[in-house]
Amino acid sequence: MEIKSIIMAAGKGTRMKSETPKVLHEILGKTILGYVLDSVKNITTENFVIVGHKAEQTSEFVEKNYNTSKTVLQSPQLGTGHAVSMACPYLEDFKGQILILNGDIPLVTEESLKKFIEFHNSSNSDLTVLSTIFENPAGYGRIIRESDNTLKAIVEDKDTTFEQKSVKEINAGIYILNWPKVKRAFSQLTSNNAQGEYYLTDIVEWGKKERLNVNAYILENSDEIYGINSRRNLAEATRIMNSRKLDSLMDNGVTIIDPSSTWISEDTEIGADTIIYPATYIEGRNKIGKNCKIGPCAHLRGNVEIADNCKIGNFVEVKNSKIDHNTNAGHLSYIGDSELGASINIGAGTITANYNPLTKVKSKTILKDNVKIGSNTVLVAPVTVEESANIGAGSVITKNIPQNALALTRSPLKILADWVKNYSK
Ligand code: UD1
Ligand code: CA
Repeated sequence: MEIKSIIMAAGKGTRMKSETPKVLHEILGKTILGYVLDSVKNITTENFVIVGHKAEQTSEFVEKNYNTSKTVLQSPQLGTGHAVSMACPYLEDFKGQILILNGDIPLVTEESLKKFIEFHNSSNSDLTVLSTIFENPAGYGRIIRESDNTLKAIVEDKDTTFEQKSVKEINAGIYILNWPKVKRAFSQLTSNNAQGEYYLTDIVEWGKKERLNVNAYILENSDEIYGINSRRNLAEATRIMNSRKLDSLMDNGVTIIDPSSTWISEDTEIGADTIIYPATYIEGRNKIGKNCKIGPCAHLRGNVEIADNCKIGNFVEVKNSKIDHNTNAGHLSYIGDSELGASINIGAGTITANYNPLTKVKSKTILKDNVKIGSNTVLVAPVTVEESANIGAGSVITKNIPQNALALTRSPLKILADWVKNYSK
C-alpha cells in the first residue's frame, strides 16, 4: 500500500535556546530533520514537512535537499494534532497509509520503521503507535493499556496522574494510520488539557470511540527513540549515533584505535583494514577505501572520497575532495574542493587556497597522478598540476604546471657570513 509521511517540525524548540530551528541542529554534519527524512526515503512516496517557527529556514533546507518533500506552514503552532491537520487539505483523496513522525527523533532506523509498518499490516490495525520502554520516562507521553493489555490511551507527562507517572512505556512520537479511516479525527480534536494544545496523541482515544483497531508496537531498542529537546539531548544523541556507527564499522573490518575519541558520521563508508587513529572527526557524507590510515587528529568535513591505500595524517583537514589510491597527505594540510590523482605525495603544511573572500567564489585544485608537492606549498585555486610534476617546498602556485616540470617560487637564499658576530660588536 502507498505510504506518505507527515513530519512535524514546526515547534519552537524553546529548550534548545537557539536562533536556529531545533530540527536544523546537526549531528555529525547532518541535520536532525535530515536523519528523519532519510529514515523514510525508501518507505514513502511523498513527505509533508510541517514548518512554523523560523519556517523559511526549514523550508529552504527541505526544498534544497529533499525533492519528494513538501513543506506546509503551521502558524500559529497549536500542538501536534493541529500540526498534522495542516496537511489534511493535501490528502483529501489519499487512500493509503500515513506515517507520522516527530521531526526531533533522529536515531530511528529505516529497519525499525519497516518492522513497525509490518506489525501494523499483519495485525490489521487502523492506527498503530510506536512505543518503547524508558527507565526514566519523565517528559514523555505514557502508553496506558487496558487490563487485557490492549492500548487505551496516551497521556502526556503534564497530564498524568500520580500512578500514571510510573508507567515506563512511552509514546515515541511515530504513528501509522489507515488514512481514509482516521483522517476525520483531525477535525474533531480539542485542546482541553494541561498545555491547552491540540494533542495528536488524542487520536488513540478517538479511535477507540470510533471502534477502530488501535494498537501500540513496542520497539526493543529504546535508544532509537531518543528525542532532542535540549543541547544535552543533542550531545547524547550524537554519542549514541557515533557508537552505533563505530560498532558497525568495526564489525566490518575497520580498526578504530580509540572509539572514545573518534567521531564518524552515519553516512561515511569505510573499507576493510582501514585504521582510524584517535581524535579523528568525520562528518557528513564520505567514502573511504580499504587499507587507508586516517588520523590521528584528522578532520574530514563531508563529500570526501578517498580510494584504497591512502594516508591522511595528523592535523589534515579534507573537504569536498576526491583522492585516488596510494596518495598521502601526512601532516598539517588543508585539502578543499580538490581532485587528487593516484600516488601523490602532499608535503607537510600544504594548503589548497580554494576560497576567494572578495568574490566569495570557491575554486578547484587538480593534481594529476604522481605529483609531488613540497612542504609548505600554497596551491592558489583554480589551479592544475599535471602528471608527475614536482613543486618545490615553500612555493605559492598561481599558474597551471605542466607535466614533469619542477615549479618553485622562492627568493634566492642569502648567506651573510659572520653576520651575528659583526652585529653584536
Ligand atoms: C511529543 C508527544 C509525546 C511523546 C514525545 C516523543 C504530543 C502531544 N506529545 O511530546 O507523547 O512522548 O513527543 O518525543 O504529541 N510540533 C509542531 N507543531 C506544534 C507542536 C509541535 O510541528 O504545534 C513538532 C515539534 O517541532 C516536534 C514535534 O512536533 O518536532 C514534537 O513536539 P514536542 O513539543 O517536542 O512534543 P513533546 O512534548 O516532546
Ligand atoms: Ca519532543
